[in-house]
This record gives sequence, structure tokens and C-alpha cells, in this order.
Amino acid sequence: MAKPRTFSGIQPSGELHLGNYLGAIKNWVADQEHYENFFCIVDQHAVTVPQDPKLLRERTRSLFALYLACGLKLEYCVLFVQSHVPAHTELAWLFATITPMNWAERMIQYKEKKEKQGEETSVGLFSYPILQAADILLYQPKYVPVGEDQRQHIELCRDIARRFNDRFGQTFVIPEAFIRPQGARIMSLTDGTRKMSKSDPSEFSRIHLLDSPDAIRKKIQKAKTDSIRGITFDDPARPEAHNLLTIYMLTSGKSKEEVAAECAGMGWAQFKPLLADSIIATLEPIQKRYQELWSEPGYLHELMRENAAKARAVAEQTLQKVRDAMGFLSLEGSLT
Ligand code: AMP
Ligand code: TRP
Repeated sequence: MAKPRTFSGIQPSGELHLGNYLGAIKNWVADQEHYENFFCIVDQHAVTVPQDPKLLRERTRSLFALYLACGLKLEYCVLFVQSHVPAHTELAWLFATITPMNWAERMIQYKEKKEKQGEETSVGLFSYPILQAADILLYQPKYVPVGEDQRQHIELCRDIARRFNDRFGQTFVIPEAFIRPQGARIMSLTDGTRKMSKSDPSEFSRIHLLDSPDAIRKKIQKAKTDSIRGITFDDPARPEAHNLLTIYMLTSGKSKEEVAAECAGMGWAQFKPLLADSIIATLEPIQKRYQELWSEPGYLHELMRENAAKARAVAEQTLQKVRDAMGFLSLEGSLT
């Protein structure tokens, strides 16, 4: 039996942080051998808000190396860059023609980003979830492993797939979001009610995967807390305590019960160094592998090229079905 397929993607729009790792990549790594995985670096999504070209190129390469450094293996995964597979934008255009404006207008992420971009909000930002649907559906995956924040985009993707199938005949597998209950949302270190995000202006709100041990200690030291004695999960009045305990649980590999018992009687001065050590120990092997890969740009480039070819072969097959189904005249085959 063939393994079920998965597809997911991350934007190379900033440095990867602990939320990306604990909410997404760590789970991809843990499950990779059970699936045939496609993990994409979605550079065309990144440019829906302004990017510095030089930095974008560097971050794209860096994210590719980080995927590998985090433990994704090429025997189970195709790792590739979105712009290396032109089928994504072609399918996005075709999907744009069957997606009602109001489906896209409802997207929360769009509304939030539009708020920030104001008059500069681009058509590309509006179409962002349509491109995301194209990313996913080209590979006919059964599962899309993402964080909670992506649920609405995956719903839209399913709606687009259903609509296409209804209008043009069965073409797409309807994928399912695969969202883990725990660690699905890692929150900001400076505000436990907001998610840890690449776009937060404060560096102290997040820990980057490539942060030095010193920087990690400093950020944890400065992390927002409260003045209640004893550190406990699940208290709505203590979002920071819940978040820091969750990070400790996920980086230490201990169960929730173990962590709750261990930390119930602690004060912050005792807990924070423990948490910092746990994060440092988690990131150390990743950073070491990253440095090794980064020192071999030729090797990375070759891997990128090979993987892009694999992705293109799969994507092109789906796209050809779509072109045929929609009635585009083909130059291949007979004239009848
Ligand atoms: P992004 O950084 O928005 O490109 O997200 C890349 C992946 O990381 C997606 O699957 C997100 O759902 C996930 N992710 C981003 N931020 C967080 C967070 N704070 N907690 C958990 N998962 C996150
Ligand atoms: N929108 C996703 C995010 O911000 C990134 C993304 C683009 C994605 N295409 C995708 C995620 C396809 C999963 C599948 O995290």
C-alpha cells in the first residue's frame, strides 16, 4: 500500500522561531516515515508583503538548510522551493477564476494583514489563500499538517477543490487539515495572548531556532510572567504561565502531568533557567547540523535542484488534468 501523502509549507519571510518548530516542523519530523511528504518553502507567498530581494534569497536557502537540520529526511520528504515549480502560480490563476471574491474576503489572516498594510494592500495578498490552495492540491495530499492558525485556509482549499470537482469532474482529493491539540499554538514571550510570530516587531517576543544560548537565556529571563506563586497550566488568567510550561513540556519531552507536578511549587527564578536549558538542549543539535550544511552551498544547491525536479513531475501531472478538464486546447496528441 502506498503511504498517504502530506503537504505543508512555510514562508521564508523571517527567521524560523520556536512556534514554527514546536507547532509545525517537529511534528513533521516525528511522523515523516509514515507518509510521503512534500514540504515547500513558499517564497511566492512571502512576496505578498514587501521583501528585500537579497534577504529573501538568503532566507530561502537558509530555510531549506533548516528543514534538513531539523531532521526532515529526503528518503521520506520532497523539500522544495515554490518558485521552482511554475505549476503553482498557473493553478492559482485557474482557481482564482472559480473562487468567489467573498470567500477570499472572509479570510481572517487577510483581514489582519490588510489592517497593517492599509492602502498598500496588494491583490497578491488578497489571493494568498488561493495560491495556498494550489500549492496543496497540486500534490493530491490526504493531510495538511499545520498550526491552528491555518485552519481557515485549509477549509477554503477544500471548498475550492469541491467546487472544481463539481464543475469539471472528479480531479482533486479533498485534503484534511492535520492540527495537533498540543503545541498547536506557541504564544509570544512578551504577551501570552498573542501567538509567537515572525512579524512581531519585538525580538524578545520569540526565540529563533538559530539564537545563541546567551540570547535564549536573555529572552527567557525577560519573558513576561505574573506574580502568582507556583506555576500552573490552563489558568485563563495566566496565559504566560501556560505558554512557558507548554514550551518546557515540548522541549523536555516530559508529559503534561510530569511538568505540572515538577513546577507546581516553583517560583519564576527557579523555573526560568530550567526552561532556558531545555530550549538550548533542543536547539543545539539543530544548530550544529545547520552550520555543517551551511558550509556546503554546492551540496545544498544540488539537493534543491533534485527535489524541485521531483516536485515538478508530480505537480505537472495534476496541472495537465486540470487544463484538460477546463477545456484548454492542448498542443499534444491528436487534433480530434
Ligand atoms: P508561518 O511562520 O506563518 O509561515 O508559519 C509556518 C508554520 O508554522 C505554519 O504551519 C504555522 O501554523 C506554524 N506556526 C507559526 N507560528 C506558530 C506559533 N506561534 N505556534 C504554533 N505554530 C505556529
Ligand atoms: N499560509 C501558510 C502560513 O502562513 C504557509 C503556506 C503556504 C502553507 N502554502 C501552504 C501551509 C500550503 C500549508 C500548505 O503558515
